[in-house]
Amino acid sequence: MAKSRYSYVCNQCGYESSKWNGKCPSCGAWNSFEEELSDTSSAPGRSAGQAIPDLSGSILELEDIGAEADIRYDTGLGELNRVLGGGLVKGSLVLLGGEPGIGKSTILLQICQFLGQEHSVLYISGEESARQIKLRAKRLGVDTENLYILTATDAEAIAETISSSAPDIAIIDSIQTMSIGRISSSPGSLTQVRECTNLFMHTAKSQEIPVIIVGHVNKDGAIAGPKVMEHIVDAVLHFEGERHQSYRILRAVKNRFGSTNEIGVFEMLDKGLAEVANPSQMLLSGRPHNVSGTCVACVMEGTRPILAEVQALAAKTSYSAPRRMATGFDYNRLYIIIAVLEKRLGLFMGSLDIYLNIVGGFRLDEPAGDLPVAMALYSGIMDKQIDEELIAFGEIGLGGEVRSVPHISQRIREAERMGFKTCVIPKQSASSIDIKEYGIEIVPVSSLRQAFSLIK
Ligand code: TYD
Ligand code: MG
Repeated sequence: MAKSRYSYVCNQCGYESSKWNGKCPSCGAWNSFEEELSDTSSAPGRSAGQAIPDLSGSILELEDIGAEADIRYDTGLGELNRVLGGGLVKGSLVLLGGEPGIGKSTILLQICQFLGQEHSVLYISGEESARQIKLRAKRLGVDTENLYILTATDAEAIAETISSSAPDIAIIDSIQTMSIGRISSSPGSLTQVRECTNLFMHTAKSQEIPVIIVGHVNKDGAIAGPKVMEHIVDAVLHFEGERHQSYRILRAVKNRFGSTNEIGVFEMLDKGLAEVANPSQMLLSGRPHNVSGTCVACVMEGTRPILAEVQALAAKTSYSAPRRMATGFDYNRLYIIIAVLEKRLGLFMGSLDIYLNIVGGFRLDEPAGDLPVAMALYSGIMDKQIDEELIAFGEIGLGGEVRSVPHISQRIREAERMGFKTCVIPKQSASSIDIKEYGIEIVPVSSLRQAFSLIK
């Protein structure tokens, strides 16, 4: 018997169903079901009697396969090159995701200036008029002769145009505005986004033209509805940051041509995005003096150590259940640290509201951030200041012990470079380094109690 054909799909999570649903049984989204393009879900099967092709002639020996290095284009932005793994790879399909207004169109227009010195770039926009793009380009100082603008939304026509005009690089802004005429659903729907991405994927691979696609992200952080895009493309870059703050972090979520650990840091100025070569300095600028509840942390972002300030505020609660809030730090992790402080150090916080903030819109995702968070909390609660020239990192165990973290030497060097005088590190990690080698005082600690004894 033929397999039943799914014909409705949730545009949020991709759940497939044979009938329309008001609420998605998988993700709970309301009114998210759309009719699926039937000729994609029912690819023609092999008819009976048709011979199955023999692929044995296509098998290659690993040794015989050419391994020339990928051809990469320098984008002119070192931070972007780093996130891409060393530049834009020829024939790759890159998805640049981020919330509306974060600066996706801006960064792409900016790289056109550099790319345009040696390559031709076709910038296809479905969002802005040619005049709007021109005005933005003027503001950004983009005046290269090799930049061509096309305003269109018909994906098939665009793919055809890319193939026929054969630019060196193509940019599509944004996938949510593109549509294929023969698919009935509206632009931005799961089916349209997936099929358009497939189409551009085919263009990128067959013509060996790198294509960068812009994708707007909804508030949950998923590339709007279609997570499906992430599987199709070669690299997924996320542009993050608080809209009211000027700093932007570019992160690789997936990269077939490089590491996903690297980040790029930018600042949005009135002349577009500027690279921030020294993120630690940026994150530490404007630190308050003579206040309790702040401690500097060091996290590794890929191969780069970055210093950030942790701030904690403890205030008497006026609620029956005290509030806990964390910005830039995992909320559940904060609960664990509070539990450890209460149980192991008798530091009760049941009548205190706790607010934790990582300054600069940065996220402290690494376990090495535990110790500075605990120290900032302790400092805030006891109202005792931590030395401004002290930095700390280490993981906290449930027994109140401070545990080792990797990349000790790089972190200490960064603290030294930024002019700090004291570095509190896990005792376990101290054995792997030579303390005398550094021009900074290193204090190995094995427990929270020991670390807190430094706060006078
Ligand atoms: P944009 O690149 O249009 O965002 P996206 O394409 O991700 O939706 O960025 C728009 C924001 O950036 C807008 O709020 C204004 C700001 N901006 C600057 O601050 N300086 C500039 O030079 C430009 C071009 C934009
Ligand atoms: Mg835009």
